[in-house]
Amino acid sequence: MPAGRRRSKLAAAMAFPPSFLDELRARIPLGEVVGRRVRLIRKGRELGGLCPFHNEKTPSFYVVEDKGFFHCFGCGAHGDAIGFLMRADNLDFIEAVERLAGEAGLAVPQQTPQERERAQRQKTLLEALAGAASFYEAQLWGQGGSRARDYLTRRGLDDETIRRFRLGWAPDDRQALRRALSGEYPEALLREAGLLRVPDDGGSPYDYFRGRVIFPIGDRAGRTIAFGGRTLGDDQPKYLNSPDTPLFEKGRVLYGWAAARAAVAREPDKAPAIVVEGYMDVIALHRAAFGTAVAPLGTALTEAQLQELWRLSPEPVLCFDGDAAGQRAAGRALTRALPLLQPGRSLRFAELPPGEDPDSLIRSRGGVGFAEVLNAARPLSDVLWQRELAVRPIDTPERRAELEARLMAQAALIADRSVQNEYRRFLRDRLFALARPLGRSGRFGRQPARRDGRPSVPPGTAAPAPPPPRDPRRVEREILLVLLLRHPFLIDEKREEAIQLDFPEPELDRLRRAILRVEDLPEGLDAATLRQHLGENGFTTLVDSVFSSSGMHAAVLLGSPDPDYIRRGWAHVVGMMRRDENRAELASARQALASEYSPESLARLQALHAQPRPEELSEDEASERGRPPG
Ligand code: UTP
Ligand code: MN
Repeated sequence: MPAGRRRSKLAAAMAFPPSFLDELRARIPLGEVVGRRVRLIRKGRELGGLCPFHNEKTPSFYVVEDKGFFHCFGCGAHGDAIGFLMRADNLDFIEAVERLAGEAGLAVPQQTPQERERAQRQKTLLEALAGAASFYEAQLWGQGGSRARDYLTRRGLDDETIRRFRLGWAPDDRQALRRALSGEYPEALLREAGLLRVPDDGGSPYDYFRGRVIFPIGDRAGRTIAFGGRTLGDDQPKYLNSPDTPLFEKGRVLYGWAAARAAVAREPDKAPAIVVEGYMDVIALHRAAFGTAVAPLGTALTEAQLQELWRLSPEPVLCFDGDAAGQRAAGRALTRALPLLQPGRSLRFAELPPGEDPDSLIRSRGGVGFAEVLNAARPLSDVLWQRELAVRPIDTPERRAELEARLMAQAALIADRSVQNEYRRFLRDRLFALARPLGRSGRFGRQPARRDGRPSVPPGTAAPAPPPPRDPRRVEREILLVLLLRHPFLIDEKREEAIQLDFPEPELDRLRRAILRVEDLPEGLDAATLRQHLGENGFTTLVDSVFSSSGMHAAVLLGSPDPDYIRRGWAHVVGMMRRDENRAELASARQALASEYSPESLARLQALHAQPRPEELSEDEASERGRPPG
């Protein structure tokens, strides 16, 4: 948990009297709170079930009711009722307490008069905004809303979606909302809610939104706190957002937030958070069953928004428009995220075809087309490397040194020491690979690698660069995938080995993991069913490309249906990969030590030397033993 959250949790906990929290815990039996999420079976004095926080087949999750805590022996999750709700529903401490208090019929104590007053005002602001949302919605569905309804229909939205997002219409009338709401709410409140604007010359207040389609913006709990409004035509600005108010700070909010949290809570392992640029992108994605999509509100991603994203999932995927502005936005997000990276916590970057945004892509290529874009998203580290590499050609020692300095300066921005070290190492490895002489001549008769040290993009082109130069060893990884795809019996047999393999290409690695996840499918799974299943999960293009690019080489291994022959083929390729890995590790460790002496790099080299040298193993031994014991 990031330090900021821990502090705020502490502050929040102190804001509630301990006696209140105790009473809350006593009133709500933990088994009941958990029981709504997990099927619990009594086991003696405890309740047990499948852990909701990691994927498991046999129960290792226990609720100890009399002590008021839960514990998972599988993943270590542990806590009380408040902690359970925080994790299961992605709430913060105060939200979880409020939710439980609501269920228990307890009033949440407000500490100070100021807090009480603030809570009261927020409530009335919320009420005013809820009133405005209903007003706009009614306008859309009323007679005056037909032009707006036509517009939304033309943009491909059906009535159900329009209702789900509570879209509305602000009539082109300076007094429409004011007239409708000022009887019920004081005008000062409507101004504070950002619904009315006061002219500079002191004239009478008028509606902030006029002649615009209205997109209500919700807080984490889904309560309306602001609006975005789009013109029907080309006038500027295209979108207008509510001004900042006590409830709404633009840089802290994500559109689609509450729905995304619910979607993540439903399928914590499956769906990463998806970050897009616009309202319409979020709506299009939710419609196409990508319920974890959110968008900032027309500004660059802020640190607060990144922290919110990481509360949704450890590696949100950024999916900005495939134009120069979108790419600049992605670059800025990368720079802002870099200092905040943590072990296991990062971003990935998906690349949309030029000129497309997620909304248009889904219209032209459907959910499957978008899934493919998502599946091809690259890790932050890779994008950073490509970005620096693309600055100019690396064709002299001086330029290499300059590139290295720039890369190390970027790595130095990462606050977390272990992630920073990993970045140094990753970037040095890439640098080193760039300088490697021509690849060894191919087994499987492949082309020698092109290693001329030139960047893979013309200098001056903006990020994101095209994928890194094709690694000749990629063929080996593709062959392993093809073996698994053609002979699914290997999936179970070689699971342990396949789990440990290191696939540096993100898309191959995703396919590998997708294949390994099919353990739930029936036994005796055949190749056609497997391919169909992967196709349904958006892997069609990738599977096809793996087949075609490895096809020629793999034909050698696939000629015989004899399982033993297949197994030997597998062992052969894995054995070669192991030897390559170890050689590359040794070389890069030597290089690291040579370029900058540090106790860490010395220790790394010593550790590698302590392993049995793969050259000393025969090929069969190497493959049978898998990874050399270390
Ligand atoms: P885009 O201009 O990419 O909008 O701005 P879009 O999503 O493609 O819009 P449509 O499809 O033409 O309706 C992306 C986001 O930037 C913010 C909005 O949040 C918008 O969704 N934006 C854009 C503004 O805040 N103001 C503007 O004038 C334009
Ligand atoms: Mn757009």
